[in-house]
Amino acid sequence: MKRIGVYTSGGDAPGMNAAVRAVVRTAVYHGLSVKGIKRGYEGMIHDDIIDLDRQSVANIIQRGGTFLKTARSKDFMTPEGRKKAYDNLHKNGIDALVCIGGNGSYTGAKIFNEEYGIPCIGLPGTIDNDLYGTDYTIGYDTAINTALDSIDRIRDTAHSHERVFIVEVMGRDSGFIALDVAIAGGAEGALIPEDISDWDKVIKHFNRPGKRKKSFSIIVVAEGDEQGGALILEKRLAELYPDLKIRSTILGHVQRGGSPSARDRILASRLGSEAVKALIEGKTSVTVGIISDEVSYTPFDLAINGKKSVNPAMIELAEILAI
Ligand code: F6P
Repeated sequence: MKRIGVYTSGGDAPGMNAAVRAVVRTAVYHGLSVKGIKRGYEGMIHDDIIDLDRQSVANIIQRGGTFLKTARSKDFMTPEGRKKAYDNLHKNGIDALVCIGGNGSYTGAKIFNEEYGIPCIGLPGTIDNDLYGTDYTIGYDTAINTALDSIDRIRDTAHSHERVFIVEVMGRDSGFIALDVAIAGGAEGALIPEDISDWDKVIKHFNRPGKRKKSFSIIVVAEGDEQGGALILEKRLAELYPDLKIRSTILGHVQRGGSPSARDRILASRLGSEAVKALIEGKTSVTVGIISDEVSYTPFDLAINGKKSVNPAMIELAEILAI
């Protein structure tokens, strides 16, 4: 192995730049060269590939988003698209890959490795924290801190106007962001896809004797909750309790941006460096994660199909602290 190609793919996440920087610096340290592939698989197909050296990744550790840019590629899902990608990698002398992204990105890398045999290591980059094989994904810590900051601000208005606020957070099909942010934000309810009794708990909360006299409340709902998003819940709650003053806020993409937290920069730096070491050791088709502060490798198949569960103790904690 002489040259590594690194790319970011799927939704951007704070810390992706720090991960690319760590890949480049570790590779250079070990005498390897690196190319950056722009817009993930799209850049492979369209030969949008740039040289990276230790200097080209200076001053990016603190930047959100991804300077390599990112995309979700339909063409890479076709054999013709992957053939073009292979030809371009060959042309650029790239003989190993580091893919920073989520499940869709891992799937592309897995198929590509099976077809063309190019070694590939995956790094978990998503704000959702829903990837198997790591305690935390790159971008999650920043995203929950951003969401929490918004909830603290909403709390001021909720308190001043004596309102109930339903705050919808991201997370795709998972409730990691919602649950952690609900606990950290002192919310009265956390509605997440992993808990089917969550709506009943909210109703129970409002039905408690004396509870409805409480002047304000915050309820956090994950965008993937089966009850529906904030606007639907606002309607349902208003029908049940016409005297409540309810407002909804959908935080949206604000959760994806911003300068990465210290935790995310450290996680991304560690994972980026470990990805290069894994390639040097001859590993392929695994994701690198950190579990209980130890580096861990998960085969693509398991990383893609394994289900990471929220901790039931945290669901109970949110309920207990909401009384
Ligand atoms: O996976 C990250 C994420 O932000 C999810 O939380 C969200 O469901 C999705 O991406 C939004 O995707 P897009 O930016 O394509 O609208």
